[in-house]
Amino acid sequence: MRIFLDTANLDELRKAARLGVVSGVTTNPSLAAKEGTGDLKSYRSVIQEIAGIIDGPISAEVISTDAAGMIREGRDIATWHPNVIVKLPSTLAGLEAIATLAKEGIKINQTLCFSVNQALLGAVAGTTFVSPFIGRLDDEGHDGMELVADIVKVFKEYHYPTQVLAASVRTPLHCTQAAKVGAHIATMPYKVLTQMMHHPLTDIGVARFLEDWNRTMKL
Ligand code: E4P
Repeated sequence: MRIFLDTANLDELRKAARLGVVSGVTTNPSLAAKEGTGDLKSYRSVIQEIAGIIDGPISAEVISTDAAGMIREGRDIATWHPNVIVKLPSTLAGLEAIATLAKEGIKINQTLCFSVNQALLGAVAGTTFVSPFIGRLDDEGHDGMELVADIVKVFKEYHYPTQVLAASVRTPLHCTQAAKVGAHIATMPYKVLTQMMHHPLTDIGVARFLEDWNRTMKL
């Protein structure tokens, strides 16, 4: 499973890049606004800066809600950098935009996916990635991971090339489970990435080795 970072924060991206495991980035209008990049010009320059840090797919999301607007924005976003992926919502207008832009060779991340049917239609229309939102489904009392597993199963059954990008990841357990059900990618906040590597027994083990070493050296 590939690891993407779900952030527009350049410091986090630089720290994460040093770990050597991040191969892509996802952003959305909320994450961009959090970094103070709430207009298209600064969103573009942040995406271009991110592209200089992480050499892999970088999702930038449209804000239009109608198909014509999404298509227009998508064409523009696709010119920002060769690694940029246009993020489109799982709506009817989004589906129309996916179909149009995919035919033009533009890579798409179908976002805000909450059902197998939405993922299925996106795959048929030619989306490159589909992003089921685990945490937001869990918040509503559903099982977000079950959706990821179902989409993986359906895509395998019909040999769709669309990759399943597990999103709205909130905990390290989400990462383990996404890997177990066969998600191609998990995108996560920087904090979750660091939590993935943490284990208290590792810390205790390191401290004990050091203690024993120092005691022996004093003898
Ligand atoms: C993914 O592409 C989204 O930006 C993200 O995972 C949403 O996560 P949230 O539900 O924690 O906001």
